[in-house]
Amino acid sequence: LACCLSPLDLKLAGITGEKLNAQFEALAALSDTPRPSVTRLVFSDWDVKARRLIKDLMRDAQLKVREDIMGNIFARWEGAEKAAVMSGSHSDSIVLGGAYDGDLGVVGAIAAIKALRVEGFKPQKSIEAVMFTTEEASRFNVPCLGSQGMTGYLNDHTLDNFKDENGSTFREAAARIGYRSSSNQELLRKAKVDPAAVAAFVELHIEQGPLLEKEGIDIGIVEAILAPSLLTLDFSGSGGHGGGMPMSHRNDPCLAASELALKAEQAAFSTKAFDTVVTTGIWKQEPNIFNAIPRNVHLEIDVRDTEGDRRDGVIQQIFEAAEEIAANRKCNLTKEIRYAYPIAKSNPTVLGAIQQSADKLGLSSKKLISRPYHDAAFMAQIAPTAMIFTPCKRGLSHHPEEEISLKHMVDGVKTLAYTIAQLAGS
Ligand code: GLV
Ligand code: MN
Ligand code: MN
Ligand code: MN
Repeated sequence: LACCLSPLDLKLAGITGEKLNAQFEALAALSDTPRPSVTRLVFSDWDVKARRLIKDLMRDAQLKVREDIMGNIFARWEGAEKAAVMSGSHSDSIVLGGAYDGDLGVVGAIAAIKALRVEGFKPQKSIEAVMFTTEEASRFNVPCLGSQGMTGYLNDHTLDNFKDENGSTFREAAARIGYRSSSNQELLRKAKVDPAAVAAFVELHIEQGPLLEKEGIDIGIVEAILAPSLLTLDFSGSGGHGGGMPMSHRNDPCLAASELALKAEQAAFSTKAFDTVVTTGIWKQEPNIFNAIPRNVHLEIDVRDTEGDRRDGVIQQIFEAAEEIAANRKCNLTKEIRYAYPIAKSNPTVLGAIQQSADKLGLSSKKLISRPYHDAAFMAQIAPTAMIFTPCKRGLSHHPEEEISLKHMVDGVKTLAYTIAQLAGS
């Protein structure tokens, strides 16, 4: 006698657009800036309130809630086996972001798991929802701290050197809301998860780009996440009066930086690969006035690719160009790789489970890669992982008008529920 429902026979009746939307609106209200924008930096008062709300949702799904030393939140459903199929995302936002980047994957995982419980699914493996601490780099200028800690990518350098605008380190800011650690060592040791405890990881997220909507496709199945890196470069020169100093006597760091930004673009095109992307995103000069020659220019250049070696080649080209430009223009140069993380390749079994789930629901789907990074990029280094993307309106994200239709919300969460159920087994 077959005792249990097969995962794909579940009705998932509890997953409705109205319920999900009410939860997104409740979270979106916890923001430093008014709707439609959401501004919720990690460990802010609003983040503390959002954490409470998320833990309430987890308990309402009858899950056992636990938090780690970094504030990552886990909600567990014990199966016959200890190893867990995990699913989740982040709930912090950028300044003036939207209501779905991150929250879709947190609320969605809890709603998916609740639906499985309510319908009497009996998981073989354990199942966990997770909310990662600070995926966004908005406060500490470094992304995915929670998932980096869990997967062993976090280190002393990051914990000591990346500070918020008030000079607080992550550990100091975490301690203020109750996540205390006595040393970096303690934090690093306790945050790390045993890879054997994670049977698989799936993250649901909005696409943050226009492709799915444009092509009218319901579900994106993410095969890889680009390997991201960030370079910082500082050019400096002697400065001087913008009228008094003759052109022939200048060593203007802003002109050195200008040349470098163009070289960085050329370095990206030099690979001839569609997936090499380079952005000179931060540019600060001092002084920044019309009648003085700048003395310092600080650049931050984001370099990403689907191939780690190719990305590293681009970094090298940019650094070599910077040396040459600084020498020609008699500027001083300091430069560093602030971070360079590996590419994440999805696991075929997890991809297959997503595909079958979308097919069962009669949804159109398409394989794609993620250019934005996600906590899944780190989880993929220790466990079989893949991501599910939903379309978002006009492809907008990191934008107050970020939006997703009720239909796409429900499609995404149901696809996630079937995926988790298949991976956990009955
Ligand atoms: C953040 O989501 C990024 O990919 O930069
Ligand atoms: Mn984001
Ligand atoms: Mn996100
Ligand atoms: Mn992101």
